[in-house]
Amino acid sequence: MTFKAHWENVYSTQVPEEVGWYAPHLRTSLALINGTGVSKEARIIDVGGGASTLVDDLLDAGFAHLTILDLAKVALPQVRSRLAERAAKVQWIEGDITNIDLPPGYYDVWHDRAVFHFLIEGESRKRYVNQMRRALKGRGHIIIATFAPEAPPKCSGLDVMRYSLEQLHKELGKDFILHEHKKELHVTPGGVKQMYLYCRFQKPA
Ligand SMILES: C[S@@+](CC[C@H](N)C(=O)[O-])C[C@H]1O[C@@H](n2cnc3c(N)ncnc32)[C@H](O)[C@@H]1O
Repeated sequence: MTFKAHWENVYSTQVPEEVGWYAPHLRTSLALINGTGVSKEARIIDVGGGASTLVDDLLDAGFAHLTILDLAKVALPQVRSRLAERAAKVQWIEGDITNIDLPPGYYDVWHDRAVFHFLIEGESRKRYVNQMRRALKGRGHIIIATFAPEAPPKCSGLDVMRYSLEQLHKELGKDFILHEHKKELHVTPGGVKQMYLYCRFQKPA
C-alpha cells in the first residue's frame, strides 16, 4: 500500500475523533504560533493538517491567510464541511509535501504536527527540508512536533522516526534558530502514550 493509500484509508474509515493523534484543540501548536508574534495577516501553512481543528482555532483567532495541505484527498472535505462558509477563507492543497510545487519565499509560518516523523527515508527528509527552506520567507517560523525518543516506534501503524532536540535541529539545519521547545505527552483515544517533541525554529534572514 502506498503512503497516500494508507492515509486515504485512514480518513475513509475513521472519524476524526477516533484517530490516534486526535486532540480537541492543538493548544501547544497554537501557543507556539502565538509565540512567533506574527500578525493576523501572516501566511500560515499547516503541512499534513489532516482533519485537525487547528484551522478552526486559527480562524477564530483572526488569522486571515491560512493554507491546509494534505496528502489525503478524503481529509480536506471533512474539514471544509465542518467549517461551512468559513472554508472559503482557507486555501486547500491536496499534495505530497516532499514533491509539490509551493510558491517560493511565501509563507511566514510552517506548522507540522506528526508529519515529518513519517519520513523514514533520508531522501524524503531532504526533499521536505528543501521544500520548507524554499517556501518560507527569510526569518519565517517553523513549528514542528514529532515523536520524541521515548514514543512508540509506530504511529498509525507506520514506522516513524523519533527525534531528540539535537537530532531534529540537525535534520532541519543548524542554521535555523531555536526559540522554544518542549516535550508533551499525548494519550491516544485508545490509551497509548506518545511523547511528542514540539519546537519553534526561525529561518535565518
Ligand atoms: C498523524 S496525522 C497528523 C494530522 C494533523 N497534523 C494533526 O496533528 O492532527 C499525519 C497527517 O499527515 C498527512 N501526510 C502524511 N504524509 C504526507 C505527505 N508526504 N505530504 C502531505 N501530507 C502528508 C496524512 O494524510 C495525515 O493527515
